[in-house]
Amino acid sequence: MNSKDQHVLICTFGKEVHEGLTAFPKYLSSKFFYDEEGDKLFQKIMELPEYYLTNAEFDIFQLHKTDILRSFNTNKDGFDLVELGAGDGKKTKVLLKELLEKKYPVTYHPIDISENAIDGLVKNLSKELPKLNVQGQIGEYFEVLDRLQHISDRKKVIMVLGSNIGNLLHPRAIQFLKKLNAVMHHDDLIFMGFDQKKHPQKVLDAYNDKSGVTAAFNKNVLARINKELGGNFDLDAFIHWEVYDPESGTAKSYLVSTKKQTVDIDCLELQVHFEAWESIHTEISQKYDDDTVKWLAEESGLYITESFSDENQYYKNYILKKLK
Ligand code: AVI
Repeated sequence: MNSKDQHVLICTFGKEVHEGLTAFPKYLSSKFFYDEEGDKLFQKIMELPEYYLTNAEFDIFQLHKTDILRSFNTNKDGFDLVELGAGDGKKTKVLLKELLEKKYPVTYHPIDISENAIDGLVKNLSKELPKLNVQGQIGEYFEVLDRLQHISDRKKVIMVLGSNIGNLLHPRAIQFLKKLNAVMHHDDLIFMGFDQKKHPQKVLDAYNDKSGVTAAFNKNVLARINKELGGNFDLDAFIHWEVYDPESGTAKSYLVSTKKQTVDIDCLELQVHFEAWESIHTEISQKYDDDTVKWLAEESGLYITESFSDENQYYKNYILKKLK
């Protein structure tokens, strides 16, 4: 292996940036939006008036908390509430408070790749809900899911909120659901948020806010390449561009080069040429309807037992169980 190849293999980030920027058409994965700055920007996105997803899911929790807990169908032995990608836990707290009030025997296992996020959440919960049994887990979803099998014999409710599944194309979403299925026992269930199809303008606005936070979030992947891989992207020479296809329900984000330019990425020993108006595809945010969720579930050996919606029908949380 020559030294150039060694550089390329240094880390997944470098390897995938190399792959994506030498492909035609160019692409970069949205998982690379999230460093410290990206986390802050995403936090800001969730507070934007245009980004309806967070409030819609919060409203579902407020409106339906009693029915949601009933649908978990737990017994006196209690259960483990496992949340993948817990973030700041704002929405989950509505359920957790209800669980404590109704004296459900529950252990809450928030899982996140970010140690900071878990530490912050666990500290915050120990102040706000001191009676709650919390066991934070730091790690990659699937590595933790593997560990999860050995957590306890109690029933598990696996929560994935925020329509995070929407950042995966259908085949990868099925892979993800199949992996969840594989670590579930017969009685376990999934409680998952899926953003719904709606007026296309509403979707476009959510991913193209007036204040430009989403644009900065999208461009953060270029900022990371500059910082971590010695790149010299001029962030002002790219625009954030959002499209939404109401037929497939797929919102797509791009970064579009406003001129012909060449970018150097020193650590990859790579020069990337852009034609004027050439794009880099960076993210998909899938929107769903009942039929699509039913299809995804069935392809993954699961079925829908119930769903909960906000008043505007913007968003739904589904309960999924194992088919056999
Ligand atoms: C995390 N994920 C579900 C968000 C979404 O809606 O696709 C990320 C995001 N991208 C732009 N705005 C928010």
